[in-house]
Amino acid sequence: MRHLPLLSNHASNRAALTCEYRCGDACFHDVPNTSANDYLGDVVRQLISRRTAMKAGAVVAFGAAAGLPAVAVADPVDRGGKAPRGLDFTPVAPNQLDAVVVPEGYQQHVVIRWGDPLFPGVPEFDFDHQTAALQERRFGFNCDFAALLPQDPLGLVNLLVTNHEYTTEPMMFRGYSADNPTEEQVRIAWAAHGLSVVMVKRTPFSGKLTPSFSRYNRRFTMTTPFEVRGPAADSDLLKTSVDPTGKRVLGTLNNCAGGVTPWGTILSGEENFNQYFGNAATRNDPRLTRYGVTGTATTRKWERFDKRFDLAQEPNEVNRFGWVVELDPNDPDSTPVKHTALGRFKHECANIRVADDGRIVAYSGDDERFEYIYKFISNGKMRKGGSKAARRHNMTLLDDGTLYVGRFTGDSPPAEIDGTGKLPSDGNFDGSGEWIPLAAGNRSFVPGMTAEEVYVFTRLAGDKVGATKMDRPEDIQAHPKTGVVYCALSNNVDRGKPGSKEGATEPNPRVLNKHGQVLELTERRGDALALTFSWNLFLVCGDPAAPDTYFAGFPKDQVSPISSPDNVAFDPHGNLWISSDSGAALNGNNDGLFGVPVSGPQRGHLKQFLTVPRGAETCGPVITERVVTVCVQHPGEVDGATADNPASHWPDGGTSQPRPSVVAVWKQGRRQPDEIGS
Ligand code: FEO
Ligand code: CA
Ligand code: CA
Repeated sequence: MRHLPLLSNHASNRAALTCEYRCGDACFHDVPNTSANDYLGDVVRQLISRRTAMKAGAVVAFGAAAGLPAVAVADPVDRGGKAPRGLDFTPVAPNQLDAVVVPEGYQQHVVIRWGDPLFPGVPEFDFDHQTAALQERRFGFNCDFAALLPQDPLGLVNLLVTNHEYTTEPMMFRGYSADNPTEEQVRIAWAAHGLSVVMVKRTPFSGKLTPSFSRYNRRFTMTTPFEVRGPAADSDLLKTSVDPTGKRVLGTLNNCAGGVTPWGTILSGEENFNQYFGNAATRNDPRLTRYGVTGTATTRKWERFDKRFDLAQEPNEVNRFGWVVELDPNDPDSTPVKHTALGRFKHECANIRVADDGRIVAYSGDDERFEYIYKFISNGKMRKGGSKAARRHNMTLLDDGTLYVGRFTGDSPPAEIDGTGKLPSDGNFDGSGEWIPLAAGNRSFVPGMTAEEVYVFTRLAGDKVGATKMDRPEDIQAHPKTGVVYCALSNNVDRGKPGSKEGATEPNPRVLNKHGQVLELTERRGDALALTFSWNLFLVCGDPAAPDTYFAGFPKDQVSPISSPDNVAFDPHGNLWISSDSGAALNGNNDGLFGVPVSGPQRGHLKQFLTVPRGAETCGPVITERVVTVCVQHPGEVDGATADNPASHWPDGGTSQPRPSVVAVWKQGRRQPDEIGS
């Protein structure tokens, strides 16, 4: 049963409106992962407890990575007072304002809003006179991931690329009837999903970014053709009545986070695609259930207007979403790609690390409670240089390689992981892990599954090989200098809940986890291609005054509160930046953007850089020397809000409707292009 939006017992921290329209009420539904695979740590511990008396060192037999060094942590006593470069700002205090709040001495500017024209001849946005044809040529709704691709050494001209994750129809149309949306409203929603590319010009000696019309400006919507590539591209599982080749898909859905590749293209994760496909109940297919494709009518009722969204009529269309897509903003005529070799799940994102020999590695998280973290290693090597030919070659790297899933093992006794968040006696939530192969080309490593089944139903493959169930793996990205991988594990309010499959584990150490954690993962010997790793929790998020939080050992009375880490980014100095998606889970305060050093005496000194307006989520942070940008997604999306009763008037003020927008922030009065925070 789907709960109505205004019921107060919903499981997520977020507003019910956000849950329904963004994730298809993912947190209301039963956890799709009902697999019986146990946390490896528990298996190892059971075996050890049986064998310890007989044979010392039994753990080595079960954990190939056992004994790997943990990530170095700064001496907790050695705390210098000076903020590292890039983080010299006074933190913003938590608040509930209907505004973007930045530190003293910084300026801000709204770069682009939902509905702003991307092409000449498109009139200024008129909320009460929207059309699908015009929305195709305007900035989309609910911007999430963003990339800023400089076109010159000073970053005066840039291509801004953004995902438009989802639409919230009750806030887009006055008098909206969820039971009877009009065809034009549905077509506007198709046009408001997808991605945008827009040229933005930076005012010299400032971070102000102004959109301009250029030949690079582009929209990707639900009607844009995508080429399907990789080992599952011609699978029968991807063929439909409209596309008997299985290689050409119209549109991309629920694009959440993403990544910029070293060759200058954009990766974008198709996340909660399940919610758009109706009449799943007619199929009675457990493979659909495993992805949360359930029920009859969808929230948006798209199945009434195009049979491809009706599983009773077009059973395979749903298999054509849930991929990582790649697009080349530098070539406005290029066809975007869906890469099947990276597997199909609720991809939060994909981010690339280049190995010493030129092969590339992609990390991706599956954002749902108790889902997995994945790694892909290419067979081909990256070609250097920015030429179109190099980009064409490099865009094939994600089509040929091996897909792995992560298994994590803790090193502390299970009795010390008691679900409260109390640190174990070794002082760290940490341990080792391994990457388990799932498929390479047409070869499957998963018993009972063909390679094409592994790619199309990757979650089931992870179940079969005993992957570790994590607390909603969101953004994952390797540090550009150290190669240490950072993953935001947003929250999991079902962990340890009565009847739940799994309680606390060392990488997910709190039951009823409302506030999430940030994981550090170090590949063996720092080698991007390694198949074993060590890991530790860098942050255990929440109220610093609460005993269940941890900030890499930094004094907690000096850090900012944070809940539900979502996106991660790095600044040019190597500091980690984290945006949050808590839904006011900490004392009703707004979400924001935070910066934190990952090394040196200030390691763990988390500081809040900005807050976003009420109801909004902070997304897609980009941190450069001269400007910080964030996407302010779903401002005013609180329970009870509609276009007839808006809960926010950001960014235009007065009695205006809230509009998801990109914001630029920079240091005031700077006369030289310089770094953000020093
Ligand atoms: Fe769309 Fe995982 O956040
Ligand atoms: Ca430990
Ligand atoms: Ca996200």
